Amino acid sequence: MSLINLIEFNRLGDDRGGLISLEKNTNIPFDIKRVYYIFDTKKGVARGFHAHKDLQQIAICVKGSCRFILDNGVQRESILLDQPNKGLLINSIIWREMHDFSEDCVLMVLASHQYDESDYIRNYDDFMTASIK
Ligand code: TYD
Repeated sequence: MSLINLIEFNRLGDDRGGLISLEKNTNIPFDIKRVYYIFDTKKGVARGFHAHKDLQQIAICVKGSCRFILDNGVQRESILLDQPNKGLLINSIIWREMHDFSEDCVLMVLASHQYDESDYIRNYDDFMTASIK
C-alpha cells in the first residue's frame, strides 16, 4: 500500500480566480486544532526530519512547490506537492522530510492537535523502534 495519501480539494474558483475551502469532516478527516505555514525557506534547506506519536496532519502547498519524503520504517516514498488543491495526509508514526522548496513556496499544514513537543520523535532510531510496535 502506498504511503502517499492525497486528498483532492474541489476548486471553487471562477473567472475571477481560485478558491478552495477546507472544512473539518467535509474534506478534512479530523478536527483542525492548529494551522501553521512555512515560507521564505532558504535555498538548499530541508525541514521536518521527525515523526509524531499521535498527530495527524495535512500539508498543502498553497503556493510554489516542495517535495515530501514519507517513511513508515519499511517503505520510503517521495512526492512533489505543487498544486493548491492537493493535500497530503500524514498519519502518526510516519517519518517526514521536506526538500526542494521553491523560492515562492508557502506550505500550509493543518494539524489535529495543538503544538506539543512531547509528541515529536526527532531521532530516526527512536522512530524505527516506535514504528515496529
Ligand atoms: P519544527 O517542527 O522543528 O519545524 P520543521 O519540522 O518544519 O522543520 O519547528 C520549528 C520550531 O517552531 C520549533 O522550535 C517548534 C516551533 N513550533 C511551534 O512553536 N509551533 C508549531 O506549531 C510548530 C510546527 C513549530
